[in-house]
Amino acid sequence: MTTPLPRVAVLASGRGSNLAAMLEARGRGELPVEFVLVGSDKADAGALRLAEAANIPTLALDPRVYPDRRAFDLDLFARVAASGAEWLVLAGFMRILDGEALTPWVGRVINIHPSLLPKYRGLHTHRRALAAGDLEHGASVHFVTAELDGGPVIAQARLAIAAGDDEHQLAQRLLPLEHRLLPAVLNLLASKRLQWDGHAPRFDGRPLLTPLMLGDEGLRAAE
Ligand code: GRF
Repeated sequence: MTTPLPRVAVLASGRGSNLAAMLEARGRGELPVEFVLVGSDKADAGALRLAEAANIPTLALDPRVYPDRRAFDLDLFARVAASGAEWLVLAGFMRILDGEALTPWVGRVINIHPSLLPKYRGLHTHRRALAAGDLEHGASVHFVTAELDGGPVIAQARLAIAAGDDEHQLAQRLLPLEHRLLPAVLNLLASKRLQWDGHAPRFDGRPLLTPLMLGDEGLRAAE
């Protein structure tokens, strides 16, 4: 009898290039998981089309038909749970989540954010890094809490800002790093090398005191 693969749901609001990266990593044998659901708050999200093409069940829920955010989130999470997902990845899901809906999922939801958190939570991260005159920028994957982009940071990818970079160029250069970072972190989570019970995240049984770094060979402990 073969061991069942860890079951993963993904939520995305947009084009879904991070979803595509996870599917490609799975296809290369680098991410042994089963994607059981791709959900979105936007019926026209590219991520849903990618999921359909990959024969992954999809779900589109319109927040406007719910009385409030909490009602939407509780229904969304009930459906994610019903999919059998053990893990949930937010890959460009542009909503803040309700704490009550998240409680049963603590330590099982990760998000990718295009900044070196705790810098630049929220939107327009590339523009804000440039405006601040930062010399480097990057992306973070963190455990999700009800605080916007606020849970413990697991891993980061760093990128030097070049003279003359504009917002678009920076976003374009960062995206390939995001596409390596997210599958690598999901793999650690689904294989239970990475754990968070709401106190301190642990990696390979030891407290994760500083975020892992994405290098040429994948994720490594920060120096
Ligand atoms: C990515 O930049 C991600 O970091 C951010 O939203 C964007 C989603 O892009 N949270 P895509 O839909 O995965 O292409």
